[in-house]
Amino acid sequence: MSMFFFTALSFFFLCIYGSCDSVNSTKDDPIPPYTTSYYTQQLDNFNSNDKRTFNQRILTAKQYWKNDVLLFYPGNEAPIDEFYNNTGFLFELAERFQALVVFAEHRYYGDTLPFGPQDTFTPANMAYLSVGQAMADFSRLVQDIRDKMNIKKVIVIGGRYSLLLN
Ligand SMILES: *[C@@H]1O[C@H](CO)[C@@H](O)[C@H](O)[C@H]1NC(C)=O
Ligand SMILES: *[C@@H]1O[C@H](CO)[C@@H](O)[C@H](O)[C@H]1NC(C)=O
Repeated sequence: MSMFFFTALSFFFLCIYGSCDSVNSTKDDPIPPYTTSYYTQQLDNFNSNDKRTFNQRILTAKQYWKNDVLLFYPGNEAPIDEFYNNTGFLFELAERFQALVVFAEHRYYGDTLPFGPQDTFTPANMAYLSVGQAMADFSRLVQDIRDKMNIKKVIVIGGRYSLLLN
């Protein structure tokens, strides 16, 4: 199990059970705006001969970013902007850690449809929807962000994949 998981978890509970309240709950604060981008992922992370790719939707908030910290939210099974719009406490943490905030959409949800809106949900094309594939997407993205943005610490928040990163 990764250090990142424990870090994420402890911050999460810290926030839920008190400390966020004590600095005055910002539940009503507006959610900061995001920028949308698309990251190129391999359709099949476990077959390097398969060169097909798709675009993974990424929401980024850079307003708080002054440090070498990434707050990463691996999306669950729903459009990623839903999570973004409903995860207010994460932005309190972002402010505190002066972190870069990145939300990544889960493959086959929202706008992240590997074969487009018409063809993604045929049985043959659904073959690339799995926990392992989604984890591999998130891992590649985080690694790439770490390299390109000079990130040294990653805090993973939310999502069923927290445990499995790193
Ligand atoms: C929280 O906000 C309320 C109302 O704005 C204020 O009266 C109170 O002093 C604040 N508490 C803290 C701990 O900042
Ligand atoms: C999330 O908020 C953005 C910006 O306000 C909005 O454009 C988008 O439709 C919202 N998404 C959902 C699922 O509520």
